Amino acid sequence: MHKLGIIGYGGMAGYHHGQAARVGDGFSVSAAFDVDPERLELARANGLKTYDTIGNFLASREFDIVLVATPNNFHCEYTIAALEAGYNVVCEKPVAMSLAELDSMIAASKRTGKLFSVHQNRRWDEDYRIVREVLKSGDLGKPYTIESRVHGQWGVVHGWRAYKVAGGGMLLDWGVHLIDQMLDMIQEPVKSVYARLISVRTEDVDDYFKLLINFESGLVAQIEVGTYCLDTMPRWYINGDAGSLRIQSWDCAGKIIKANDRVLDWEPVIVQTKAGPTRTMAPRPKETLTEKELPKVETDWADYYRNVMAAIDGRAELIVKPEQVRRVFRVIEAAFESDRTGQSVIF
Ligand SMILES: NC(=O)c1ccc[n+]([C@@H]2O[C@H](COP(=O)([O-])OP(=O)(O)OC[C@H]3O[C@@H](n4cnc5c(N)ncnc54)[C@H](O)[C@@H]3O)[C@@H](O)[C@H]2O)c1
Repeated sequence: MHKLGIIGYGGMAGYHHGQAARVGDGFSVSAAFDVDPERLELARANGLKTYDTIGNFLASREFDIVLVATPNNFHCEYTIAALEAGYNVVCEKPVAMSLAELDSMIAASKRTGKLFSVHQNRRWDEDYRIVREVLKSGDLGKPYTIESRVHGQWGVVHGWRAYKVAGGGMLLDWGVHLIDQMLDMIQEPVKSVYARLISVRTEDVDDYFKLLINFESGLVAQIEVGTYCLDTMPRWYINGDAGSLRIQSWDCAGKIIKANDRVLDWEPVIVQTKAGPTRTMAPRPKETLTEKELPKVETDWADYYRNVMAAIDGRAELIVKPEQVRRVFRVIEAAFESDRTGQSVIF
């Protein structure tokens, strides 16, 4: 039986309650600590024991796993305090404010021998799982470009996320998910990183960024997050030397397009377009292409907690490992540096 104690009973608390309910027997949320009395009142209404100091919370022994779900600037100190108090820790993303903070959290986990993982739940997203499966199947051949993006239309960054001091901004908020997915899927070494961070409507932090990751094989990944894109682009767009893939949005509508073999006998001709004559950019006749449906995947976000519990019990290897999170954070730090210097950061 494993019990979760939550530090920071805010917006994400409901999500974690939902996941615990899905896991069912053997897992429950039992306690909460928050600095806001109203959040504690809600936690009590949800049947939890509540604490208004970190000391009393950690002394309570009401749980064996601590979830740190505060604004990002408190992740490091609470994670280390919980590990030192003998608890296993799941920290919300982004794990920390800097690589130095993350290293001190990893060191605390090693020192105490307690499990430390980060809630990179988007590794279980359906759209991501489809892309990962298609790339693994080889259907696209060797990928040479992968574009992963999310576009919001409201131009608003909510609450503490709008402030640098709290670890706000889109690179740390959504960027960390999309970089984590990319590095989980593409396990080859990163060669270099280039990034531009822009504050379109939110003064203190990036509310738009574009990031290029160059991998050893020559594959280039582009990750883009925008909060004020009134016209939106596909969630995923990938080209390989044997096919292309597009997934439009989280509803996973999309397709794979491959060239027919008989195209080898087909000689492109110069076509007249509105922009003048072209052969290289001439649209291909439909009969030279085949559209394939995307594969169906089964995925469940609650598998994150199922794995954490199995790893604590010694029944499975931890899926979201601190070393992987560190690799992601190196890219994040490189992206901030690249934006500052205007140069690529070579790994
Ligand atoms: N994995 C995901 O998909 C996902 C989604 C949303 C948020 N998050 C992450 O979860 C964390 C919380 O985000 P949120 O949207 O729930 O924020 P939120 O603002 O809704 O909730 C934060 C809670 O922390 C409490 N808090 C603030 N300072 C505190 C302190 N010093 N000590 C104790 N409690 C404190 C607040 O009172 C609030 O209840 C962030 O790190 C965020 O990046 C992850």
